[in-house]
Amino acid sequence: MSKTQPYQPFLLRLFHSINALLVISCVITGFLVYDSWDGRFCKVGLTIKNRSLIDIHGTFAFVLFLIFLGFIIVSIKIGRNRLVQSDDWQKLTNNVGENIWWYRLHRMVNTTILFSAILSIGSGKLQDENWLPNGEMYHFWYSLHLIGWLIMLLAIATHLLMSAKVGGYPLILSMFNTKYLPQESPKLWPEKIMAWLKHPRI
Ligand code: HEM
Ligand code: HEM
Repeated sequence: MSKTQPYQPFLLRLFHSINALLVISCVITGFLVYDSWDGRFCKVGLTIKNRSLIDIHGTFAFVLFLIFLGFIIVSIKIGRNRLVQSDDWQKLTNNVGENIWWYRLHRMVNTTILFSAILSIGSGKLQDENWLPNGEMYHFWYSLHLIGWLIMLLAIATHLLMSAKVGGYPLILSMFNTKYLPQESPKLWPEKIMAWLKHPRI
């Protein structure tokens, strides 16, 4: 690890990386589902109508749902200082263009991407896998799920741009670094979980 690379807590990195991979998989497979079964707004025609596409998307999405629950808890508990702070809104007109201002925007974008994921995953959970094969494209939750896809795409792009702006490559790489401190070792997890179960703190 280079000396200038920031250090990110291991658990946060682990959940963030798995979550990011799954979200990207859902964005891609979701688009393929739309492209083959719907295609009202634009059609690329990459795949033919294929039931297993819906199942593949559903599988990635279901695992994402479980991982996202963990990520959101870790993000709030361990990474709270990288999410929006109570005074960020009031101070948004101060120090415009300075580093601190960009960092405030970055924290807001980090929080927005969490809400975008909640929108996509929440509306996804209310889908019925038979709607598209039955040609039922008019359901409210399906339309919301499509809008969620677009918002998710914009949120990822903004999140990447802001991460690059505030910390450049070193910050981006720090989120995918595989090294960890001895006290963060997964070998200690059973011990830590047992200690937590004895004295749970929410
Ligand atoms: C154009 C884009 C998308 C389309 C057409 C689409 C379509 C669908 C369909 C048809 C289902 C029902 C499948 C099933 O229940 O097995 C579904 C479920 C789901 N989708 Fe999407 N999706 C899209 C994008 C996304 C994105 C971007 C995410 C998340 C970031 C997502 C997350 C989910 C979730 C969590 C479920 C529920 C899975 C479950 O628990 O069974 N989808 N989606
Ligand atoms: C390849 C894609 C991604 C890259 C390169 C990336 C990069 C980063 C970086 C560098 C940070 C650290 C920011 C800091 O320390 O100030 C970060 C934080 C964060 N990212 Fe991503 N990210 C990606 C995808 C995602 C996705 C898909 C989501 C959510 C759906 C997400 C949600 C977050 C959140 C919520 C934080 C703040 C975590 C905290 O509470 O500390 N990221 N990301």
